[in-house]
Order: sequence, then C-alpha cells, then structure tokens
Amino acid sequence: MQRFPRLPAETLDRRPLAEALAYAQRAVMNPIEMAIGVLDLPVAEAMLYAVTGGKCLRGFLALETARLHGLHLEHALPAAAGIECLHAYSLVHDDLPAMDNDDLRRGQPTVHRKWDEATAILAGDALQAMAFELVSETGCPPTAQAWLVTTLARAAGVRGMVGGQAKDIAAETASSPLSLEAIIDLQAGKTGALITWAATVGPRMAEGNDGYLTDYGDALGLAFQIWDDVLDVTGDVAEVGKAVGKDQAAGKATFVSLLGLDGAKRRAETLIQDACDALSPYGEDADTLREAARFVIARRS
Ligand code: IPE
Ligand code: IPE
Ligand code: MG
Ligand code: MG
Ligand code: MG
Repeated sequence: MQRFPRLPAETLDRRPLAEALAYAQRAVMNPIEMAIGVLDLPVAEAMLYAVTGGKCLRGFLALETARLHGLHLEHALPAAAGIECLHAYSLVHDDLPAMDNDDLRRGQPTVHRKWDEATAILAGDALQAMAFELVSETGCPPTAQAWLVTTLARAAGVRGMVGGQAKDIAAETASSPLSLEAIIDLQAGKTGALITWAATVGPRMAEGNDGYLTDYGDALGLAFQIWDDVLDVTGDVAEVGKAVGKDQAAGKATFVSLLGLDGAKRRAETLIQDACDALSPYGEDADTLREAARFVIARRS
C-alpha cells in the first residue's frame, strides 16, 4: 500500500485556497491509511481508491474552520479525514447501478466497474464506519467530541445525506415537477448536510459559536449542488471526470430543471454572496473561505 510523505510542519497561518486544498488532500490520507492498516483485501484497496483523487473540499473546510478557531490542524485532521471517508462512501453508493449507474468518477472507473457491486457496497459501508471511527478520535473535550459524532450521524442519515438521496431518486419518477422549496430541501439533505458539518468542525471542536459557519455552510452547500447540476449541462466529461448530460434524461429535480441554466447560475451567485456575508465576524482571516466560496461557482470539475 502506498505511503504518503511526512507532512510539513503545521502552521496557523492562513494559506491561499490552492495550497490549502493541496495540503488537505495530502494530509487526510495519513489517518485514513493508518485506520485501514495493511490489509491484503480487495475491499481495503477499493476503500483507498475511493478516497483518492477528489478536490477534498469538505476536508479543507474542516481544517480551515479549525484554524479559524485557533486549533492546530493536526487536531482537526481526524475530522477532516472522517468527512472525506463519509463523502467517498456517498459517491461509491451514488454511482451504483441501482442509484445513478455511473461508470466514471474522478476520471477513473467507478468502484463497482473496477471491482464489482458487492465490493463497492462493502467498501462504502466500511468507509462510513471508518468515518465515525476517525471522527471519534479528535481528542477534543468529551462534550465537543460527542457532539461532533452525533451531528455527523444526523448529517449522514435519513435527516441528511441519505434522506436527500432518497428524495432525489423518488423525484425521478414523480408525477409532477418538484417545487423550488422541495428542491432546496432535497439538496440541503443530499449535499448540504455534509458540507455544513465540515464547515462547523472548527467552532464545534473549539466549543465556540457555530452559527456564522452554519450559515456559510448552508449557502455554500446549496450553491455547490447547483454548480454540480450546471456542470452536468455545460461541462466536458474529460474535465469534469464523470459523465455529463445525464440529469435531464434521468428526470433529476435540480435548480437547472426548474429555473433554467441562467436562473440557476444567478441563484448560485446570490448564495455565494450570502456565504461570504456570513463570514464578516471573522474579518480578513476568513479570506480563504471566501476564496473557496467563489471557487465553488467557478470550478470546471
Ligand atoms: C460530488 O462532490 C458530489 C456532489 C455532492 C455534487 P465533489 O465535487 O466534491 O466530489 P470530489 O470529491 O471532488 O470528487
Ligand atoms: C450526489 O449528487 C450527491 C451525493 C450525496 C453523493 P449527484 O448524483 O449529482 O453527484 P454526482 O454528479 O454523481 O457527483
Ligand atoms: Mg445522485
Ligand atoms: Mg450521481
Ligand atoms: Mg451531479
């Protein structure tokens, strides 16, 4: 199994987004590899494969909001690694034939295409379990630690990601189009819940006020899914790294299906403004989070 190089000395200095994302991508692999251990099993290989190659936005949010609350990155690393495992599990299952039936993810074959469906289901299950193992190991005060785990369970489950995914699948065969309110509710669950959880890791670990970052995460999460839906229409498969042009054919309920491309983009821009406004109590120290918000609606993948 590949080992990653030693991490550079941690720092509390703010980094530009590209640097912070690259750091997060590298850093989260250490606790993940440690948790998987040296197991000669296809399911373990599939787990590592599934957590590799993403943007690591959620891991970055956990680390950056921890930094913003004066925590050393090292202490937030298990939470950042955990949320990336949970996100990777959601993608592995989202791609299964019974869900979105996709062959390509992050420019590579999806897990069930590279291995088989049973391995993909089990790798997803194990990544979810491992996410909770990791998030339980931050070493923050017991009350904060318990709160991190409880809120992640809620964000991942039927009141969060799974509930949103269930509404997403149900919408494909709904007899009439979903209202804007119903689409917001669906997307806040399937995508927003994990993003907001990641954005509130810092204040939760530091036992501070998580209100501003909850507002930031809620707006960012919705804009993130709108942009994912925009890329499904405007993106290029080689750049996006996954199939495009599938949502309309599948009857997905999205901002694009309801408001059109321009309407969806305008909505995403307003949300990003809201996300940036929510950061004002943090002043310039939140500039990397502002950069991340702008990146969400400028990205090509
Ligand atoms: C894709 O998320 C799934 C959605 C919630 C839209 P990302 O675009 O963050 O995926 P990776 O991790 O960078 O591949
Ligand atoms: C899925 O949304 C969000 C998840 C909870 C995994 P999509 O189905 O639109 O994500 P992509 O486009 O496959 O990445
Ligand atoms: Mg889906
Ligand atoms: Mg999908
Ligand atoms: Mg999509």
